[in-house]
Amino acid sequence: MKHFTDCYTLNNGVRIPCMGFGTYNAENTDNAAIVRTAIEAGYRYFDTASLYHTEEVLGQAIKDSGIPREEFFIVSKLWIDEMGYENAKEAYEKSLRRLQMDYLDLYLIHWPRKNEDDPTWKQLDIETWKALEELYEEGKVRGIGLSNFLPHHIENILSNCRVTPVVDQLEIHPGYSQETAVNYCRAHGIQPQAWSPIGRKALLTHPFIKGLAEKYQVSPAQICLRYIVQKEIIPLPKSSSMERMKQNQEIFDFEITQEDMYMLDTMPPTAWLGEHPDFNIPKKSSK
Ligand code: A2P
Repeated sequence: MKHFTDCYTLNNGVRIPCMGFGTYNAENTDNAAIVRTAIEAGYRYFDTASLYHTEEVLGQAIKDSGIPREEFFIVSKLWIDEMGYENAKEAYEKSLRRLQMDYLDLYLIHWPRKNEDDPTWKQLDIETWKALEELYEEGKVRGIGLSNFLPHHIENILSNCRVTPVVDQLEIHPGYSQETAVNYCRAHGIQPQAWSPIGRKALLTHPFIKGLAEKYQVSPAQICLRYIVQKEIIPLPKSSSMERMKQNQEIFDFEITQEDMYMLDTMPPTAWLGEHPDFNIPKKSSK
């Protein structure tokens, strides 16, 4: 990859940019202004979800930009209160309405289980995935995938369903490399993606990351993003400023050595945000 708009080819032939822009809703933030600025900065791949409450502003900003819909790559997700066969189909239509679009590039199941104790999660995942398979086979969405699914969750889908997910979106950054899940995805043709690739702000002041930033004459955020891109994972950084949005795109003219990559892979656990698909499920609502 030589530029943030260069693409990978997913397992169903769809081309996906090697970097996206995350629209997770920070409280008290002007999301509309952020999305407008990100479009101006050149981002065309936007990641949203019903949970984030940013679908409306994203759809409106795209419409207002005057740039044709086909030039964008738009991904949304259904939240745990939208799981199940009928619910998933309804959730997709609602997302389309909020985005003012007639198709999405990808639609993902946001989280593999509703709560820590639910013994029925496998069946619920299968039913939800079957609804997504139908949306895909009817041509309503260009690809279907997963988010926060670990190997045991993915295995349930692969063993019981027809369509292989195209992506799996995981928290990945230096200090939280999720090698087991990433390797499992690769072995099954699923493209891994990284949410919070900068570890929110916690990694920016870490002495090892700061040292590498000095060594490569870049910023700590650029080290984090270059690490992800060099592992052929798709990062979905967020930022509220044009300057940092642009800085985050400028990570294709330097290369981290293999030795430093190994150190970034194996540095002590840092900046994990505290959510876990099985043990610590966020208690939030899409409504
Ligand atoms: P800001 O909006 O002030 O740019 P992540 O994507 O890992 O969740 O991290 C998002 C956070 O990282 C945001 O709070 C954002 O703050 C900050 N951030 C994004 N890009 C940069 C950058 N290049 N330098 C410093 N901070 C950044």
